[in-house]
Amino acid sequence: MVDLLLGLQWGDEGKGKIVDVLTKEYDIIARFQGGPNAGHTLEFDGIKHVLHTIPSGIFHKNAINVVGNGVVIDPVIFKKELDNLEKFAIDITSKLLISRKAHVILPTHRLLDAASEASKGKAKIGSTLKGIGPTYMDKTGRNGMRIGDLEFDNWKEKYRTLANKHEALLGFHGVDIEYDLQELEDEFCEGIATLKKLTFIDSEAYMFDAMAQGKKILAEGAQGSLLDIDFGTYPFVTSSNTTAAGACTGLGVAPGKIGKVLGIFKAYATRVGSGPFPTELFDSYGETMGRVGNEFGATTGRPRRCGWLDLVALKYAVQINGVTHLMMMKADVLSGFDMIKVCTAYRYNGEQVQHLPYDIDSAYVTPVYQEFKGWAKDLTQMTKAEQLPSALIAYIDFLEKALNVPITIVSVGPDRKQTIHR
Ligand code: GDP
Ligand code: IMO
Ligand code: MG
Repeated sequence: MVDLLLGLQWGDEGKGKIVDVLTKEYDIIARFQGGPNAGHTLEFDGIKHVLHTIPSGIFHKNAINVVGNGVVIDPVIFKKELDNLEKFAIDITSKLLISRKAHVILPTHRLLDAASEASKGKAKIGSTLKGIGPTYMDKTGRNGMRIGDLEFDNWKEKYRTLANKHEALLGFHGVDIEYDLQELEDEFCEGIATLKKLTFIDSEAYMFDAMAQGKKILAEGAQGSLLDIDFGTYPFVTSSNTTAAGACTGLGVAPGKIGKVLGIFKAYATRVGSGPFPTELFDSYGETMGRVGNEFGATTGRPRRCGWLDLVALKYAVQINGVTHLMMMKADVLSGFDMIKVCTAYRYNGEQVQHLPYDIDSAYVTPVYQEFKGWAKDLTQMTKAEQLPSALIAYIDFLEKALNVPITIVSVGPDRKQTIHR
């Protein structure tokens, strides 16, 4: 069976931390979509690690880490990630396996991303500019280059054909993007040389065999449900299916093989990049969430927009993914708040609704809030559910009832140890 771990909001819920916490229970950790737009943070032994493409189980000796076919890989960023891991003496060739069907991000994909964003002006998506959109466009357009292509001598010709197309396309955007293609290609080739030292696999066959042998697999999602290409706040989304179904196509796992679906959410909400965010705060509560929660993008360093928990959106994510277990992150950040609000409905077209309308832009949607008592106690040293303050327990009980799914982990700090199981 394959368990899934998915972000239920706009990303950065704390997926990396929880995958790291849970890896001891699994034999295989597998990424199934997204690419280096992701920034997954892990903390243990006083060190903080940020992973972009490499699955978050990499620091555990017991687990194999698989980068699945649904992922897009930038050889340049991948090499940097590997360089950062060097001092940890991980046996990368046996612990990290790459799907031959994963697509490659070319330097010109990044340029196209930048040109597309620049040409949109104020309407830009707020992309991480890692070339994600253009790479998935080439995948679905049937022009992409895959990891498996690197095993054939003619990969450079394929690269050239695609890069030439991209250079021509750059002109259509009508914006000036400065670049030195030779320099970009040099680092790209260096990245590819490093990648080629790794183990490439037919990941769908590998997963099938692993399941037949009764191996325990955890699929690690990137981004969050509200950034899903189909179900997110389109067009302000990423270019992959971040929801449960994405794990089937991104790993070659049949739907019937999915076991638990672990949904991760913050005790409040954040979003980085543009797009609607009904519960966004522009006051001192939002400022405190950002400051105490250290809400800066792990990939781009951009400040994250902060707001109250949006239960309408969370319920939608729970439904789309079939979440069986919930994990609430960053509860510690709300310590000291005199009150906490949760959006329980939207006012939409003069009516109160509890589903997500087609467009949740603030022009159409106003949040309706329910207020909860805050708590003063610092949570960061707590290790048991019984220690949690009663106001937080009331908040958790309310959410469990509203979502009809148990909250089985409450996270009270960034470190591996700051995790309370219930
Ligand atoms: P991911 O993309 O879902 O893996 O999440 P990110 O790593 O982008 O962002 C989560 C941030 O919150 C990271 O800086 C984590 O170290 C941090 N974090 C995770 N869980 C907690 C928590 O319970 N409390 C606090 N204060 N920080 C946390
Ligand atoms: P993790 O896995 C938060 C956002 C970008 C932008 C939109 C499209 O760390 O949770 P893209 O680069 O995909 O074209 O950007 O999606 N975005 C993320 N926001 N966490 C992420 O990943 C994100 N990956 C992309 O900010 O709004
Ligand atoms: Mg992140």
